[in-house]
This record gives sequence, structure tokens and C-alpha cells, in this order.
Amino acid sequence: MTYLVTDNCIACKHTDCVSVCPVDCFYEGENMLVINPDECIDCGVCVPECPVDAIFSDTELPEPERIKWLEINTQYSNEWPVITDQKDPLPNHIEFTDITDKYEKYFKQVGEGPDIMKETTDYD
Ligand code: SF4
Ligand code: F3S
Repeated sequence: MTYLVTDNCIACKHTDCVSVCPVDCFYEGENMLVINPDECIDCGVCVPECPVDAIFSDTELPEPERIKWLEINTQYSNEWPVITDQKDPLPNHIEFTDITDKYEKYFKQVGEGPDIMKETTDYD
């Protein structure tokens, strides 16, 4: 069992979740966070912190969603840097709150880091 960050986080990235995680297992991409399933201790305290309900226990997700988000969280938590401090959400987060299938439309593979490492943040 683990908790997983899912589609609603993409292009919003509120980061309230990181301030409560007791084991610092959130990792930051340009427009999404993910959880490292091997480090998550399944405490569940991050779930109510997310304003857009992006975090679920893997036991709550139906197949194939469970496998999809388990693979995404596993892969990118091993590539992106850890994030331990809350910061402002992405500037245009409100207009992305109710959009579905954001992974297919807007997901950025690049991790957070120096500007030279980033793609442009252009969601057109
Ligand atoms: Fe961290 Fe607990 Fe959320 Fe896992 S369930 S990511 S350990 S706060
Ligand atoms: Fe994402 Fe929600 Fe955390 S939008 S960054 S999972 S608080």
C-alpha cells in the first residue's frame, strides 16, 4: 500500500501536502508533485491537506488507474528533487482546477530546478 499523487495536481501544485509529510517523501516536477511509494509510511495525513483532492491511497484507485499512477509516482520520485517546504501554487492553477486528463494534456517530465533545466511553462 502507498499513497499516490494523481491528475488533479498537474498544473496546480498547491504543495500544502509537503508541509505535513513526516518522512519527506514528496518530489517536485515542474508542474506536479509525486510521492515515493517506497518511502511513504501510509499515514494518510497529506490527503485532507490537498485543496484539489489529488492524493489517494492506491487501494482506492480502480485499475488501470492504480497501475498508471503507481508507475508515474515511482518513476518520477526517483528522478525529481525532494520538496519539503510549502510554496505558492502555480500562477494559473485556478483555470486548471476542473480540467480532466491533465496528464495527457499538460504533464511535464522535467523536474523542478535551475531555470536552464526547464521547458517553457506554456500550456496553450
Ligand atoms: Fe507522506 Fe503520509 Fe502522505 Fe505518505 S501518506 S506521502 S507518508 S503524509
Ligand atoms: Fe499537488 Fe495537492 Fe500537493 S495539488 S502539490 S497534491 S497539495
